[in-house]
Amino acid sequence: MAESVLSSRRALPGSPRSPRDEEIGVGGAAIAADDGDGSKTRNHRPIGARITRMFSFRMSPTRRCCSFPPAAPLLSVAILFRFLFLVALLCSQRFRRGVCETEYGAISRVVMGRTDGLASDFGILGVPWCRSKSGKSVDWGAKDLIKGLEEFVPIYENRPIKDNMYGMGFDHSFGLWFMTRWLKPTLMIESGAFKGHSTWVLRQAMPNSSIISLSPRHPEKYLKKGPAYVDKNCTYFSGKEFLDFGSVNWGNVLKKHGISDINQVLVFFDDHQNQLKRVKQALGFGFKNLLFEDNYDTGTGDHYSLRQICDQFYVRGGGHSCFRDGDEARIRRKRRKLWEKAVDTEELCGEGEAWWGVRGEMRDDFNHSNKAISHLDHFQNSRFVESLLDSYWELPPVAGPSLTHQTRYDPARSSNPIVEDGQYSLFKGLGLTRLDASVFNGYTQMVYVKISAAKQ
Ligand SMILES: C[S@@+](CC[C@H](N)C(=O)[O-])C[C@H]1O[C@@H](n2cnc3c(N)ncnc32)[C@H](O)[C@@H]1O
Repeated sequence: MAESVLSSRRALPGSPRSPRDEEIGVGGAAIAADDGDGSKTRNHRPIGARITRMFSFRMSPTRRCCSFPPAAPLLSVAILFRFLFLVALLCSQRFRRGVCETEYGAISRVVMGRTDGLASDFGILGVPWCRSKSGKSVDWGAKDLIKGLEEFVPIYENRPIKDNMYGMGFDHSFGLWFMTRWLKPTLMIESGAFKGHSTWVLRQAMPNSSIISLSPRHPEKYLKKGPAYVDKNCTYFSGKEFLDFGSVNWGNVLKKHGISDINQVLVFFDDHQNQLKRVKQALGFGFKNLLFEDNYDTGTGDHYSLRQICDQFYVRGGGHSCFRDGDEARIRRKRRKLWEKAVDTEELCGEGEAWWGVRGEMRDDFNHSNKAISHLDHFQNSRFVESLLDSYWELPPVAGPSLTHQTRYDPARSSNPIVEDGQYSLFKGLGLTRLDASVFNGYTQMVYVKISAAKQ
């Protein structure tokens, strides 16, 4: 795949969001659960971002320049003039480069009086990632993703569940659809269905393939309260029939579905379980193609993720310092003010300066179970995981924050977006302006991995 998409990792950081689940547990019991993180798609903004947004402006397609939303009434005329002058200066500079629209970060810098905001200013920390055995990743590239977006936006607009709070937003829906269509599995296994949005996405990608869905509560239960999706060609292990992925006799189930080549199976996890546990289970059953919805960044989320596991000192951008007066702490403090899900050093580090996982913990099952692990355990986990990886590919965010107005995850902790800040006409041309901003708030580095047993 194109190097620009694949390893467009910046030497920068911050953090994302995590979801919370409305219902968890087994046997169909619906238990309210809150990891303190709020929804995947809600639309709250930090004060800094709100102020910034008051001043954000975008290109008017007719005038090819900048048009303002209503100005903030409380500002004095003098400040407003100063601001307008700076905006005009920025706009004219960008216009010279042939792109007259505003970067959220640029305006943020003006308004906040600082020189950060977007990813490129994050500085020394970088973005951790998992290394695959051969260094190879995937064979799709930037152009494929753009083409995919063009096709997917109208599909997404027709989704049956318009408000998928606590479930997947646009970025991951696109990622799931895109990768499924690319890999063309004969069988799709989904662990964690909620109201069935992801089942619907899988069905859009592969209309004729089989789906097996494992979720404690059957999606049909949600129909009483509002929109939900139940697929007539899906085998549900739900309600009384619920089985955890690790407890299924996959040999029998695959046989029943006529699957002889396990390469033809895609397993999608959105069940908030420890991903190390899931990788070990999948490996034991022989599955190769795995997709994890919530690949949380270090210090965030309710389960140990691949991103967390691979966050190691030996990976560029990996490993963290808990030194309260250090550069990392300073940068984190700044980012925390700009992005809801960014974590500062106090949140990052637990007792004994334990930064790995979440404050030195390996979380599992919506954080209903967590275990403190040593740095050595954490290090060995990454060696183990990387010994299995044939591919590791994190879905980039669909578009930069100046376009989507997302306010939750820190763009410095993700790869470059598919549609970069500044590409407003592409963003509009793809139909992305038609979507509500709240659907862009749920990005957590969805990741595709291909695994195989380590060579002895
Ligand atoms: C975040 S939701 C999934 C959202 C969904 N994929 C969507 O379309 O947006 C997580 C789901 O995992 C379910 N879950 C909890 N424990 C599970 C387990 N052990 N195996 C599978 N699903 C589980 C929850 O009940 C919930 O429906």
